[in-house]
This record gives sequence, structure tokens and C-alpha cells, in this order.
Amino acid sequence: MTTPVKVAIFASGNGSNAENIANYFMNNNSILIDSFYTNKADAFVIERAKNLGIHCSFYSNPDFREGSSVITELKERGIDFIILAGFLLKIPMNIIKEFPNKIMNIHPALLPKFGGKGMYGDRVHIAVKEAGGKESGITIHYVNEHFDEGKHIFQAKCEVLAADSPDDIAEKVHKLEYKYYPEIIEKVLL
Ligand code: GRF
Repeated sequence: MTTPVKVAIFASGNGSNAENIANYFMNNNSILIDSFYTNKADAFVIERAKNLGIHCSFYSNPDFREGSSVITELKERGIDFIILAGFLLKIPMNIIKEFPNKIMNIHPALLPKFGGKGMYGDRVHIAVKEAGGKESGITIHYVNEHFDEGKHIFQAKCEVLAADSPDDIAEKVHKLEYKYYPEIIEKVLL
């Protein structure tokens, strides 16, 4: 039997995508969701990790930005690939260099629109609403040193109706995230 690709998931908040991905790969022999990492000591993703029986590490913002202790743990655990799922800090260069083309992110809009620094969570859906856009969606992309500018891997769209609130848009986008993020991870990693 070949050894599975070992994956770490970074998340800053709720962690519903992290949990969805972990569940998707639960019985997969080729891809192992090894551990979660968070920069928020009270993030709900920590609770989710406990319930899933997945190791979860917390590092402060300065520790994440400095990177070396995170890299040490990732190496010790034999991590091959990093998945960002609602992780709000910029990934430092030393982590990017250690994992070239091996860090993936999901953005809750159709990049290059509604991306960049400060564009995260509800702010994205509010901006889509304010711009009067007729569609939104998800962008799955590699991570480089610039926020939301790495090579695109996949996009999926949803319709935005005039009556939709930012919460309605968020719900439509979340549905796309839950369906496609695990599938695309599987395609890219295998
Ligand atoms: C998702 O919409 C993701 O696209 C974005 O942050 C949100 C995280 O949600 N980057 P959750 O923590 O996975 O519930």
C-alpha cells in the first residue's frame, strides 16, 4: 500500500469547510486529513477538530507570520499539502517556499473581482450585493505571496438575484464550496 498524501487545513473561524473536507476524506486511503491549524484561540474550528478526532494546533498571529515554528510542526508531521479554508492571515514567504504549489485556497467570489486584502467573509458578499452583480461563486487557487493572486484551479458560479441579501449570497456560495472544494482537492492531489 502506498502512503497517503498528508494534508493540513488552516482555518481562522467557524471551520465548516474544514469539517466538510475532513468528512469527505474520512475513509480515503490516498488522502489523509492529518491536522488543523488556527490563529484564533477561540475559533469554532478547534471544537470541530475535537469532535472529528483530528489534531488541531493553535499559533498566535506573530508566530504564524514568522512561520518557522509552524514549518517545524508541519515537517515533523510529514505534511505534503496545505489547504486554506477561511484562513485570514497572509501566508508568510518561508511557508510558501517550503510548500511551492502545495498550498490551495478557496475564495468566496469570482476572482479577480472582489478579492485582495480585507476582502473576506461577509465583506465579500456585501461588496457583491453593493456592486449589483448578477452572479457570484467560488475560486479555488494556488497561494503565492500576493493575496488572492495565485494561479486559478477552478471556478463555479451561482446566480445572484436582486432580492438576495448578502446572507443569501453567502448561503449559495457555501453550497458551492461544500460540493466542489473536496472534489477539486482530490483531483489536484491524486
Ligand atoms: C468561506 O466562505 C471561505 O470561502 C472563505 O471563508 C469562509 C469560511 O467559512 N475563505 P468556514 O469557516 O469554512 O465556515
